[in-house]
Amino acid sequence: MSKLIPNKNWLTYDNKPVLREKCKLVDVNHLEKEDFEMMDKMIAYIDATYEDKAKKYRIVPGIAIAANQLGIAKQVAYIHFDEGEQEHKYMLMNPKIISTSITKTYVPHGEGCLSVLDEHEGVSIRYKTVKVKAYDYLTKKDIVINADGLLAICLQHEIDHLNGYLFYDRISDNLNNAIPYKSKE
Ligand code: NI
Repeated sequence: MSKLIPNKNWLTYDNKPVLREKCKLVDVNHLEKEDFEMMDKMIAYIDATYEDKAKKYRIVPGIAIAANQLGIAKQVAYIHFDEGEQEHKYMLMNPKIISTSITKTYVPHGEGCLSVLDEHEGVSIRYKTVKVKAYDYLTKKDIVINADGLLAICLQHEIDHLNGYLFYDRISDNLNNAIPYKSKE
């Protein structure tokens, strides 16, 4: 468990090339000091939101973060939020979408991102469900996640980060029968 105090100065913004890089795969059996320090920061930042302490630390709340948002172009993303009764908590390494639904979805009020300060009108079109494989550092296992709802959208947003894409690259006027995402809360 991280003892770090989250700091908004850790974040990189979308004027930085690192957010447009395709992040490098990590060797999960040979993690480096930099990786552990980075993961501590990711956990500290996102768990502050989870514990409702974002205001206290004067940070923008977030449910997930990718390594390049901390300036490190490696394939690592941390996700932690509740969706209805379910807690989603993963430290994903080298995540990959292995299948998707045909049905699309979108967040009706648009997506947000810790690295994007400007307003971007419109909605990002996402697959309604995705199957993702990854190594989860929290459980130290190779996992496959069958995601729907907000988790599916979040996974696509984070995997996009690791490939150098931002949510506004996915904004489209063509909703194409996409089903709006409805929060369970
Ligand atoms: Ni983001």
